[in-house]
Amino acid sequence: MERNEEKEISGFSKLTKKDKIYWLAKNFLYANPVEILKEFADYWHDNIEAQKLLDGFSENTLTNFPVPFGIAPNFKINGNIYAVPMVIEESSVVAAASNAAKFWLSRGGFKAEVLSTKKVGQVHFTYKGEPKKLFSFFEDIKGELKAGVQHITAKMEERGGGVVDMELIDFTDQEPNYYQLRAYFETVDSMGANFINSCLEEFGKQLAQKIEASPIFKDSEKDIEIVMCILSNYTPECVVRAEVSCKVSELGTFDNGQMSAEEFAFKFQRAVNIARIDSYRATTHNKGIMNGIDAVVLATGNDFRAIEACVHTYACRDGIYRSLSECEVKNGVFRFWLTIPLALGTVGGLTSLHPLAKRSLELLGNPNVKRLMEIIACTGLAQNFAAIRSLTTTGIQAGHMKMHLTNILASMQATDDEVVKAKAHFSDKTVSVSSVREFLERLRNSSLNFNT
Ligand code: MEV
Repeated sequence: MERNEEKEISGFSKLTKKDKIYWLAKNFLYANPVEILKEFADYWHDNIEAQKLLDGFSENTLTNFPVPFGIAPNFKINGNIYAVPMVIEESSVVAAASNAAKFWLSRGGFKAEVLSTKKVGQVHFTYKGEPKKLFSFFEDIKGELKAGVQHITAKMEERGGGVVDMELIDFTDQEPNYYQLRAYFETVDSMGANFINSCLEEFGKQLAQKIEASPIFKDSEKDIEIVMCILSNYTPECVVRAEVSCKVSELGTFDNGQMSAEEFAFKFQRAVNIARIDSYRATTHNKGIMNGIDAVVLATGNDFRAIEACVHTYACRDGIYRSLSECEVKNGVFRFWLTIPLALGTVGGLTSLHPLAKRSLELLGNPNVKRLMEIIACTGLAQNFAAIRSLTTTGIQAGHMKMHLTNILASMQATDDEVVKAKAHFSDKTVSVSSVREFLERLRNSSLNFNT
């Protein structure tokens, strides 16, 4: 029987947290509201002020959703050692990053360099007049537009940022009358979304006013429409490069000595090349990179959706979705590197509001944006190295399933003693949900028989 009417509500946001939970328990979970409230309340912060702060990050908040906060130590980046904070729910990611960091620690560590830091914003508008007239008018008023946002940019300019440049682009061959004012910004240590959007809205307003006031346009040409003003999360000129390299002979052997350093280097290079050719593989390859990147982005209170959106557009900038990392084995040297756009902030937003984001940045030595870009790119490269090393040597499942075993055991409420026994039992066996269930059943039955 349909229960749709009960599922609709107006004024949900105005209900107290408790009433929201009761309403959901009744109309969506069909469960005892008191029990559901207890379940949600179990994750509330003990400290009322801390909970208020967390609630304020979003709306209609019922509770918190805990995700592990871990550390990957031993990251040597440009000569400095970091213990990198990672927030992620996938087992084996932190272990893999730590492992790769340790591997490269004794081989010179990671080198990273920020190549550019420009961010982008757009005013999308329509204009029905003579294009040439608009372009020459735009060149004339560019300086005025920039001066017209001085009240927004003054503070940013003091810190070394501001509006860097702007251009006008004609898209009328693809959408009738559509032009774009594309502006470039330097936002120093802030992600700068609010700053950029405020500037763009002002540009839009002023552009319309200046066209309206100009005698060079006929009345019919003055009818411009500002469609929207918004930053672009695609920042192909806010890019960092991370790299590891060593002599092939220094790579050591793999697979319990069965694979030589040279065999490994060439097999690894081939695996990366495959991800440069084939988009199916590239997607998974880049997902492995993002396992590392997103975890640090989250831990430092940055916007992982923005980072993800940008990275994948960048990965197909030549028209084909490709690996973000590259590998070269030449003259006896193994080189593996990653070039990636990362529009981050180390001041403002969640970075300074979320107590654990603040602590993460402190762990990293309160880096400026460029330093954070370098650290995060290296974590992505480490993650990618660990994944490709496993894939081309032991296979990914050996390590994954060991970690997976811990999760399966937890989901089956295994005791500490059962966990120890299960880990010993599965050290040389294939892990699956059913094999673990069977093992636990056998173990529990045998102890039951023993106890009775
Ligand atoms: C799993 O989260 C990530 C990998 O699939 C990445 C890869 O295949 O390169 C292991």
